[in-house]
Amino acid sequence: MKRIGILTSGGDSPGMNAAIRAVVRSAIYHGIEVIGVKRGYQGLISGDLEPMDLGSVADIIHRGGTILHSARCEEFKTEAGQAKAVATIREQGIEGMVVIGGDGSYRGANALTQKGVPTIGLPGTIDNDIPCTDFTIGFDTAINTVIQAIDKIRDTATSHERTYVVEVMGRDAGDIALWAGVAGGAESILIPEEPANIDSMVEKLQRGAARGKKHSIILVAEGAGKGFEIAEQIREKTGWETRVTVLGHIQRGGSPTAFDRTLASRMGAMAVDLLRRGEGGKAVGIVGGVLQANDIGRVLATPRKPNMALYSLASILSI
Ligand code: ADP
Ligand code: F6P
Repeated sequence: MKRIGILTSGGDSPGMNAAIRAVVRSAIYHGIEVIGVKRGYQGLISGDLEPMDLGSVADIIHRGGTILHSARCEEFKTEAGQAKAVATIREQGIEGMVVIGGDGSYRGANALTQKGVPTIGLPGTIDNDIPCTDFTIGFDTAINTVIQAIDKIRDTATSHERTYVVEVMGRDAGDIALWAGVAGGAESILIPEEPANIDSMVEKLQRGAARGKKHSIILVAEGAGKGFEIAEQIREKTGWETRVTVLGHIQRGGSPTAFDRTLASRMGAMAVDLLRRGEGGKAVGIVGGVLQANDIGRVLATPRKPNMALYSLASILSI
């Protein structure tokens, strides 16, 4: 394999640049040229490409976001759009692709593979909702962003003896709320995978107040409910002063943590090794600290389960 392409797609995440850097540097180390594709799959359709060299990825390992930019591209979900993309790939002499993104981007990577372009998927999303990997690139940075916010909210919650609802990202998966909730010591965590029982949550908060707790912090994943609605329900049932913080897109930025930089670097290098071996249609994951490559179709067909042991622990520790 003498030339590969790389793109970032869907919701961006901290660490994508570290992954891009590892793909480019590993490829060049093995005598392979790299073509950067701008703005996700749209760049393949419109031919928005740029050759990448060692200098292209200098001084980016610590930067959030993606130097290739990301985008959502409805046209690529169509056969005609995919045909345009494959035509660009063939015209450019690209023999394999690396796609960094979430499950939607993986569907695109699978489509390219089915059309004869060996493609490797790297799990780039803050949601941590990709099956067959313990962690996705950007998740660790996102939960550290959340706990930094929780720690600040805890200060003012203690001063004013208030109840705070913090809404975090995660439409279908509650991993950000769950992991940041445990790390942040939240009194209650609401995730889309477990139907919220507001009454039992309020009873738990009231038990805490009865034993002298001066404040409560409730973490809610956006897929489990709206922070302002949860707060209003608490206020109606308790009469307590409640406040809401919706963290939003600050969870998507920031300098990636050492964990995410290392994870991204390891996964990027593995993507190049897989293509060098002629292995396409694979998704790179990390399980138990060990990198592995799984068939993308199998990954997409595997249901993603939340870490229910952690969910139970959260309930015990916030008694
Ligand atoms: P994420 O990758 O973060 O889940 P999206 O679900 O928005 O983000 O998908 C990102 C892009 O992947 C879409 O804009 C589209 O270009 C491509 N994509 C998503 N689903 C498919 C599909 N079923 N077939 C082909 N391409 C897809
Ligand atoms: O998929 C990552 C994610 O950040 C989700 O957690 C969030 O709901 C969504 O993207 C936001 O999408 P957008 O950036 O298009 O508003």
